[in-house]
Order: sequence, then structure tokens, then C-alpha cells
Amino acid sequence: MSPLLKLAALICFVVVAQAGLSFPFPGQLSIPNTFPQLSACISESSFFSCENTTTISNTCCSPTPGGLVLQTQFWDTFTGLEKKGQLLPKNSWTIHGLWPDNCDGSFEQYCDLSRQFDPTPSPAILPDGTVVPPYTGPGVDTFIKAFGRDDLLEFMNNYWVSQGSPNANFWGHEFSKHATCTSTFDVACYGPHYRKHQDVVDFFDAVVRAYHQYPTFNMLATAGITPSNTTTYTLSQLQNAIKAQTGSIPFFGCTTNGTILSEVWYFSHVHGTEQFGSYKTVDSTTKSSCGATGIRYLERTHTSEREVR
Ligand SMILES: *[C@@H]1O[C@H](CO)[C@@H](O)[C@H](O)[C@H]1NC(C)=O
Ligand SMILES: *[C@@H]1O[C@H](CO)[C@@H](O)[C@H](O)[C@H]1NC(C)=O
Ligand SMILES: *[C@@H]1O[C@H](CO)[C@@H](O)[C@H](O)[C@H]1NC(C)=O
Repeated sequence: MSPLLKLAALICFVVVAQAGLSFPFPGQLSIPNTFPQLSACISESSFFSCENTTTISNTCCSPTPGGLVLQTQFWDTFTGLEKKGQLLPKNSWTIHGLWPDNCDGSFEQYCDLSRQFDPTPSPAILPDGTVVPPYTGPGVDTFIKAFGRDDLLEFMNNYWVSQGSPNANFWGHEFSKHATCTSTFDVACYGPHYRKHQDVVDFFDAVVRAYHQYPTFNMLATAGITPSNTTTYTLSQLQNAIKAQTGSIPFFGCTTNGTILSEVWYFSHVHGTEQFGSYKTVDSTTKSSCGATGIRYLERTHTSEREVR
């Protein structure tokens, strides 16, 4: 390389590094960390969320008030965006989200409108009358790319698949509706060097980590419960299969008068943060919307799924 070219390459490298945007020289730049600053938590007493016996003073250390944490998943049979390549992962349920319920099962939503990234807010008006304005900026997938997390983005496109809307819209919805109400993702928890959207990427990592704890497809399959267009299952068959692995009964959701299995919610209390803490699974506080018998766990249309493992 001529000295002039070397200089040009160096300048380009420095400019790109400072902008922190794309990474033209793979391996030469390090990926920025997204974890919060939690050194103040070390001197706090130790407990599972919703089980504290005294008031939680530092809400960056434990999700509060949303200490009943739900990792939610879907069983969809199609996406509606197959033509755009939005397909479901074979032999796997998909991610819905990670929700902060209050310990009594009630919940808050859209708690910080300065972090509103949902193009189609639902609800568009909160119970107290607050209007949630639709987001029109770049998709949250661009935030993930800006942090150099192509690995996370790939996993999310494989396993966090939306039905009827682009995946990034769904991820923005989940962040703004739920993570803004989860205290351990508050901007203040990231300290004085907070980088814009660090909390968003940190939340997506936390969702993926929580999801890994609950491999629904495999847990059901170990009990002989697999998708079938000819068999039906009972609710207690589904519940017992999961309880055998997690120790607790999750919420199962069904559509079509309780006959078609479509979702599962795993409830837990968390020791420490949602990001890095330990999840203790507890029984659902919500009654199943499935019937007691005759539940169909449908096979997917083959053209709606793909192998991603
Ligand atoms: C646990 O902490 C929360 C948040 O500070 C507080 O509202 C609640 O009263 C505490 N629970 C008990 C039993 O002290
Ligand atoms: C649900 O059940 C009710 C009462 O049996 C029936 O009237 C209704 O048509 C059913 N709905 C669907 C979507 O199957
Ligand atoms: C199973 O049934 C559902 C609902 O009727 C249908 O959409 C799906 O394509 C069927 N799957 C297979 C593999 O036949």
C-alpha cells in the first residue's frame, strides 16, 4: 500500500470508529458493550422480585413494580409475509416478548414516550387518556446494526418472527410497550456514558436469553406432544409436560373457542436483573383460554417454515 493509501485507510477507519456505525474491517473494531452500571446493587440485600420483604430502593437492581416476569411465545402456522421471506423456524415456537407484570398480575404499558419505537401502538390511547403517537423513524433493526450486533439481529429474524407485520415493527412494539415499564432497562441504569439505544439492544439480548430457558417445542415433544392435524390434546397433557421441566404451570392460550393452541406464557420471579439474573418459574396467574380437551396443536404449512438451526 502506498503511504497515501495507508493514510486514507487510517482516516476512514478513524471516522467510522468514531461514528460507531458500520464495520468495514471485520475483527479490527470491538463491539460496544450494552450492559447497565450496577455496582450500586452489590450492597443491596438479595431477593427474588415480588418476594422482597422491604421496599426496593434501587429499581435498577430488580424489576419493580413489574417483578412478575413473563416470557411469552407464539405457535403460529403462517406469517402472512412469506413472499418477503419472513418464515417461521422449523421445530420451534417463536418469541413474543418479555413482560413486566405487577406482582398481582396487573401491568403497565408504554411507560416512557421518549422511547416510543412502535409504528402501530396498541392500545393507541392508554387507560388514563394519554395518546401514544405512532413511531415513524428508522426500524429498531437499525439500532442493532449500529451496535455491530449482526449475530443478535440474525437470531431475532430467525426466532422472533411477526405475523402480519415486518419483524422490526413487532420488536419496536415489544420494547416500547413493555421494556419501558421494566425498571432494569431505565436509561438512568446505564450511567453517565449511556449511548442512545443501548437499552434497546440490551433488552433484545435479555429477551433472547430468557427465551432460551423455555424450549417449548422440545419440552412438549419429549412428552410425545407434537404438531398434528389429526390428533387433539388435553390442557392437562400440555401443562404436565411443561411442569415436569420447569416446575410450574404456564399460561396456554388458544384461539377459536379454546380449540387451537397459539401461545404460552412462562411466569417467573427474578433474582437480580432481567438482563443477567436468575429466573425462578412460578405458576401462571392467568386462567388458560384453552378448553380442557380437544386442543389442536396444528402442523404448519410447509412453505411457511424453514430450517434455521
Ligand atoms: C417491595 O418493593 C416495592 C418497590 O419498592 C414496594 O412497593 C413493596 O412494598 C415492597 N414489598 C414489601 C413487602 O415491602
Ligand atoms: C364458539 O362457540 C359458540 C358457542 O358454542 C358458537 O356460537 C361460536 O360460533 C363459536 N365460534 C367459533 C369461532 O367457532
Ligand atoms: C394443518 O392444518 C392447518 C389448518 O387447517 C393448515 O393451515 C396447515 O397447512 C396444515 N398443515 C399441513 C402440513 O397439512
